[in-house]
Amino acid sequence: VSVFALGALSAQQPRSGWDGLYSDAQAKRGQALYAANCIACHGTEQGTPKGPAIVGPAFAARWQRKPIQELFDFVQTKMPYNSPGGLSRTQNADVIAFMIQQSHAPGGPNDFVPPPLDGGPAPSSARGLPFYTEQQATRGRIAFEQNCARCHSTQKNTQKLETLNKPHMGFELNGAMALSFGTPFLDRIYLGQPVYPSVFYLYEKMQAMPAFNTQSITQQMRADIIAHILKQNDFPAGNEELRPDPEAMKQMMLNERGFERLFNGKDFAGMKWLLGDACDAPPNGCGKTDPSIVARVEDGKIVCACNIHGYWYSEKTYKDFDLRLQQRFIKPAEWSDSEDDELFFPGGGILLFIYGGDKVWPKTIEVELRWHDLGDIFPFAGKNIKFTYDHAAKVRAARSPWVWHEIRVVSKNGRVDSYLNGQLISTITEHDFPAGYVGMQVEGTPTEWRNIRIKDLSNEEKSAAR
Ligand code: HEC
Ligand code: HEC
Repeated sequence: VSVFALGALSAQQPRSGWDGLYSDAQAKRGQALYAANCIACHGTEQGTPKGPAIVGPAFAARWQRKPIQELFDFVQTKMPYNSPGGLSRTQNADVIAFMIQQSHAPGGPNDFVPPPLDGGPAPSSARGLPFYTEQQATRGRIAFEQNCARCHSTQKNTQKLETLNKPHMGFELNGAMALSFGTPFLDRIYLGQPVYPSVFYLYEKMQAMPAFNTQSITQQMRADIIAHILKQNDFPAGNEELRPDPEAMKQMMLNERGFERLFNGKDFAGMKWLLGDACDAPPNGCGKTDPSIVARVEDGKIVCACNIHGYWYSEKTYKDFDLRLQQRFIKPAEWSDSEDDELFFPGGGILLFIYGGDKVWPKTIEVELRWHDLGDIFPFAGKNIKFTYDHAAKVRAARSPWVWHEIRVVSKNGRVDSYLNGQLISTITEHDFPAGYVGMQVEGTPTEWRNIRIKDLSNEEKSAAR
């Protein structure tokens, strides 16, 4: 028997784990939500025949010695009883603040902040990032039943992925139809390509549906149905609804387990900047760290005037990693159609293994984003760096400087492969760099970046070994 199980007997009980956990302002917000969503079943300190008391001493006795996360998870996933997940995480945090206050635990200066999704920043094991809310998936299930269930289902498949991947997309075919859109539907690779690399492609396919009249449902309903399909493919729910916004959907990757975002699409949180030609970092040097002097966030992308040379870099250091991003250059007004795009000579590059003091420029190896030799390798430091560059592959893979290019850099066991639109164009076969930050140059040419994401491959190995 654990001593903790006897805690209730103790006369000098430790202070409640709830003391100071919430603010009174938050409890006040929670009161209104409680009245609207919980009181009908849970009443006050006596409860009702429809639900037990969730305020007052009896409730406190059951819950206050457990980690608050347990209570939060219970409410988030199981309540309200008749529409689980109906409240957002923030709303549930407010309701819990009110419940704790009504159970006579004193407040403090700070709000109770809901614990991070999936138990914190351990995205490597997750199916993918959260793109929808529970409530939206519930709406989507209903819309699916009404508009799609005649011909499709979203039962989770029992077939193995390999079976699904066979020609004709491997489903037991009924006409040309997938039997079900449940997992592993979104894992399908066909002819070496994911069938739906991002939410966007699924959304576009759904423009041709439902078969009886494609105009019988709204784009919002399509987004809701996708939320339901994501849920049936074990994607986690989050705080924000999936909006029927194709540009945003292009950045929601479906076949990328374990990636995290270096740029969150909203602000510069988690990205560090050092700007100023030949400057050291402040306070001693002339360097500036405020990104707003060169760049802004607009529609989920970074729009960089890049007028002051320097670079941005990650908060964490990486040695073995898979870095993916999209970039395009902003076409200068004077660059008319008769100019030769091949001769466009922008500045820019991806910086790997950045270390050795905060200055412009740091010790790093650059993957060039200059147009004519895009993907070539330029070491700023280090000895015995060997690499190969396939210019013909670059020419085949490149589109035009003004359209989005997908760039990928994979560092693994001392080797670094760089890809442009899926084609391998350069390989560093030998280098002596330690782990460092990853980043990108700000080098005078107006540029846009979006969908910057990374997977730490060394972490993945450690957790796989456990
Ligand atoms: C339609 C009725 C209903 C509504 C509305 C409802 N609940 Fe419940 N709730 C229940 C029932 C019934 C139980 C007990 C069932 C169980 O334990 O699984 C319960 C259990 C709970 C418990 C666990 C109680 C304990 O001590 O074990 C918590 C906490 C809770 N509800 C919170 C909430 C919150 C917060 C809301 C409003 C956001 C809410 N509920 C809305 C019916 C409801
Ligand atoms: C009357 C029957 C019918 C209805 C209703 C219908 N579909 Fe389809 N669906 C089909 C057929 C037939 C195909 C295969 C041919 C094709 O791909 O166009 C298909 C294919 C699809 C695919 C591609 C499956 C794959 O293998 O990747 C998706 C996604 C899809 N439908 C979504 C929906 C959604 C969402 C709805 C409801 C809004 C819906 N469909 C309603 C008949 C239907």
